[in-house]
Amino acid sequence: MRLVLVGAPGSGKGTQAQRMQARHGVPQVSTGDLLREAVAAGTELGRAAKTVMDAGHLVDDRTMLGIIRERLARPDAKPGFILDGFPRTIVQADGLEALLAEIGQPIDAVVLFDIDPGVLERRLAGRRTCKRCGRVFHVESNPPRPGETCTDGKPHDLVQRPDDNEETVRLRLAVYRERTQPLIDYYAKKNLLRRIDADGSLEDVDARLERAIS
Ligand code: AP5
Repeated sequence: MRLVLVGAPGSGKGTQAQRMQARHGVPQVSTGDLLREAVAAGTELGRAAKTVMDAGHLVDDRTMLGIIRERLARPDAKPGFILDGFPRTIVQADGLEALLAEIGQPIDAVVLFDIDPGVLERRLAGRRTCKRCGRVFHVESNPPRPGETCTDGKPHDLVQRPDDNEETVRLRLAVYRERTQPLIDYYAKKNLLRRIDADGSLEDVDARLERAIS
C-alpha cells in the first residue's frame, strides 16, 4: 500500500495514519514528525526548520524532497508507506512522482480529508502529543484511557505543539489554502484522488478511509 493523506492542519491525517500503520503493516511517514525529530536532536536542519515551523510557514521544497528520499530508502518502507503531510506543494508532488518512478513504487491513492475550518481550530487547540511515544491525543475527544501507559509503562507525557497557538494556526490554514489545496486538482486530474468526510468519530473516519482505499 502506497498512500498519500492530504488535508488541512488538524483534519486528522496523523491520527488516522497512526491507526492504519499497524493494520496494514506499512509505516506512517510524517514529514512534520521527521522535522520535529530534527528539532529535538538540535541538528542543523532542525535549527533551521524550527524557525520556519514555529512561524507556520513551509520548509523549502528541496530540503523536504531530500528528507523524503532518505526516509523512503529505509527498509521498513519497502512494502509501502502512508505519507502524512507530504507532498504539500506542486513542486513536492512533481518531485515525489519522479522519485517513486525511479524506485518503481507509484502511489495507489491520495486521500483528501475534507472538513469544516471551524472544526479545525477546536481540534488544534485541544491537541496534545506524548513526548516519548509521539501518539496524538485530544483533551476532549481523544484523551488517553484511564490508566493507559506509554511504551515504557509510565503515563503518557503530554505536551502542546508550539505551532498550535491561535495566530500560527491561522497562518498555517492560509498557507494550506494557497500552497497545498492546488494538489486537489493535481491529483484529481491523475485520477488518484479520493475524498472522505473527516468530521465524525475516530472510528467513523477510520471506516470511511478504509472504504475509500478498498
Ligand atoms: P505537520 O506536523 O504535518 O502539521 P499539519 O499538516 O499542520 O497537520 P497537523 O499535524 O496539524 O494535523 P493532522 O491532520 O495530522 O491532525 P491530527 O491527526 O494531529 O507539519 C508541521 C509543520 O512542519 C508545518 O507547518 C511546516 O512548517 C512543516 N512541514 C511539514 N511537512 C512539510 C512539507 N511537506 N513541506 C514543507 N514544510 C513541512 O489531529 C488533530 C487533533 O484532532 C488531535 O488532537 C486529534 O486527537 C484530534 N482528532 C483527530 N481526528 C479526530 C476526530 N475524528 N474527531 C475528533 N478529534 C479528532
